[in-house]
Amino acid sequence: MMSRTNRRSKVILLTLAIFFTAIITINAAEESEDRISDEYSKAEYCDIAKCQLPNCRCSAQTLPKPEFQGHEKEIPQFITVTFDDAVNIINFPQYQQIFDGLVNPDHCPARGTFFVSHEYTDYSKVNALYTEGHEIALHSVTHSSGTDYWRDADVDLLEQEFGGLIDMLEAYAKVNRKHIRGMRLPFLQLSGNNSFIAAKRVGLIYDSSWPTQRFRNPAMWPYTLDYHSLQDCVISPCPDASLPGFWINPMVTWVDTKGYSCSMIDGCIYPPEDNEDALFEWMLENFKRHYEGNRAPFGMYLHAAWFSRLHHALPAFRRFLLHVNTLQDVYITTVARVVQYMHQPVLGTPFKGCVKKPKTECTPRSCGLTKTSTGEIRYMTVCGSCPQVYPWLGNPLGKH
Ligand SMILES: *[C@@H]1O[C@H](CO)[C@@H](O)[C@H](O)[C@H]1NC(C)=O
Ligand SMILES: [Zn+2]
Repeated sequence: MMSRTNRRSKVILLTLAIFFTAIITINAAEESEDRISDEYSKAEYCDIAKCQLPNCRCSAQTLPKPEFQGHEKEIPQFITVTFDDAVNIINFPQYQQIFDGLVNPDHCPARGTFFVSHEYTDYSKVNALYTEGHEIALHSVTHSSGTDYWRDADVDLLEQEFGGLIDMLEAYAKVNRKHIRGMRLPFLQLSGNNSFIAAKRVGLIYDSSWPTQRFRNPAMWPYTLDYHSLQDCVISPCPDASLPGFWINPMVTWVDTKGYSCSMIDGCIYPPEDNEDALFEWMLENFKRHYEGNRAPFGMYLHAAWFSRLHHALPAFRRFLLHVNTLQDVYITTVARVVQYMHQPVLGTPFKGCVKKPKTECTPRSCGLTKTSTGEIRYMTVCGSCPQVYPWLGNPLGKH
């Protein structure tokens, strides 16, 4: 039996315990909020005197260096060809065909950027693209449908979507995580600061999800988020925190045949008719706005599914690339390479040497795996050995 005083002191102790726990909890919450606002203050208006290359650049249509003024024709014209979504046995041969034999004026092979999403991806084909020197970048694990999911995503969820994909690309496609530099959000749906805080946390250096219609002519060059961005926020919310040294590769929109803007080529509402000449001429027209203007990188952003929808899209696309590949100042290269150039921009030949092709071993293996959330069987081709269950959000290595 417990005595009265003993019981009372127990009650007091318990009350004290609850009190202190509450204090500790409040402190912890304050600390984590403090930590985030400490790390990222609100972005101020950009002061060119304070924001200088190699690691800072104000958002603007200005040339990479003021000295380039009057020498626009000597600025290398970059073309960034990017594909989003799963890499599979249908689009892989198309990717091979598109880049086949294209060599830049510096004798380095023309290369593209692949924003890969996990579901239905054949990781042995990702490995093949990677070892050929293409850039492997991130487009999320789930590619969940519905823009709300991405707009409302918090930093932790985004960290799982993109950090998880890095683990998968490393485990199944033998991609060195140090070579993964950038991301594109599904549906180009940003979630304000969160997208970029998550990107920094998983070690990325650039994002290429942010379209611009206002800064098309002259077009916007890549810039960093140290200071307030002047870019038009086409798909809100856009960030307003200062994220030092993080690069934005703006998606400079194209114009369709009726004057509407499109961020992705295959997203244009009024593309030309499905005819090789018409498609080719239209690509050239959009290209000339950059090439004959301020030479901001020309983005060709699309999904391989476009080639199934428009019969002449692939031949026209290939013809366009063959044509621009004859120009002595045009470089078809990856977004990561363009961001690298931005650190130390020069006139004429942009790079010293080519990107080294990574050496990896890949023995493709097809795995039939259970998707634990639904019980469905998913087939997945990987390099090396099969995971135990179908890898998914929160379980990138597919463990039981
Ligand atoms: C983004 O971060 C800045 C700086 O911490 C803050 O002032 C702003 O309110 C944040 N925006 C959102 C939508 O959370
Ligand atoms: Zn997508």
